[in-house]
Amino acid sequence: MTPIYQTSTYVQESPGKHKGFEYARTQNPTRQVLENNLAALENGQFGIAFASGLAAMDAVMKLLKPGDQVLSTNDLYGGSYRLIKRIYEKFGIQGRFMDMTQTADIVSYITPSTRLIWVETPTNPMLNIIDIEAVCNMAKQKGILVCVDNTFASPYLQNPLDLGADIVLHSATKYLAGHSDVILGALVTNDRELADQLHFIQNASGAVPGPQDCFLTLRGIKTLHLRVQRACENAMELAHWLENHYKVEKVNYPGFEHHPGHITASRQMRAYGAMISFDLKNNTLENAYHVLSSTHYFSLAESLGGVESLIGHPASMTHASIPREERLKVGLTDSLIRLSVGVEDIEDLKADLDQALLAT
Ligand SMILES: Cc1ncc(COP(=O)(O)O)c(C=O)c1O
Repeated sequence: MTPIYQTSTYVQESPGKHKGFEYARTQNPTRQVLENNLAALENGQFGIAFASGLAAMDAVMKLLKPGDQVLSTNDLYGGSYRLIKRIYEKFGIQGRFMDMTQTADIVSYITPSTRLIWVETPTNPMLNIIDIEAVCNMAKQKGILVCVDNTFASPYLQNPLDLGADIVLHSATKYLAGHSDVILGALVTNDRELADQLHFIQNASGAVPGPQDCFLTLRGIKTLHLRVQRACENAMELAHWLENHYKVEKVNYPGFEHHPGHITASRQMRAYGAMISFDLKNNTLENAYHVLSSTHYFSLAESLGGVESLIGHPASMTHASIPREERLKVGLTDSLIRLSVGVEDIEDLKADLDQALLAT
């Protein structure tokens, strides 16, 4: 097993002559193994690990300068929105948010200042699909960088670099680590110049993960394919079951043939993921709260991508930092329920949701 190099510094042979490792903010052997592993998973040359998914995003934002603009989907992780709006707008970097499901619509939002397109697909929590290849082709013609947040799919299902993305981001906290016991982020790129800049920022800003967390992430990755495959099978069955449940109004899941992004998802993903969101027929906040507090196997908690199934309420949890009027525009109602389907027995999961739904 990769050892946990619990060290902050390394002995040098003589001044200026070290053995490949100087100081652990800059390099750590456990982190280096993880970074190479992450790069390989995304068919990339350079992997760069961070203390969290948001620290990884922060490093990408630091490639920009005042006056630059970031264009992103209006249905993205609330923390990513908050980083752009509440931190970077102060420094003169503007964020614009739009529905990116129709690639042709993106062109009208591009200005001479647009320097970065931030794609998250499947989107969080509405499970919309953005065509990565089409966005990258369009951005390339205009010299705009594309970063894809691949957290929801994981590298087992989707590899954005192969579709033309410049950078892939992961909250490795989720499927990569997979056991709800680590916070860690990662970037992967094939572009040496970008990698050099991102390594510089990693070291200069210092948001690096500790060796224990790198070790846990490496251990989690060993079963990524088994976990994600089982979670996807469970999610497909659960999504169909929920859609036929008389207490459920609408289920968002890209695995449905009638989902507007299904064809694109079939092209760019190997399966449809294990995230589902749904609205209740009696769509009140009270009923949603009732379901959210009545499940046993689905634990009420933030996050996703662990072996355990989670249930969440985006409006008050993951997406609380997005203003209500912005949320409602994309269908993120006060009562929307989000599921991260885990690897448990599917009959247990159905029975659990059934008893919670029937009690509303
Ligand atoms: C899609 C997505 N991207 C990024 C992040 C941020 O990652 P972290 O919590 O590791 O900082 C999250 C966290 O929930 C997420 O869901």
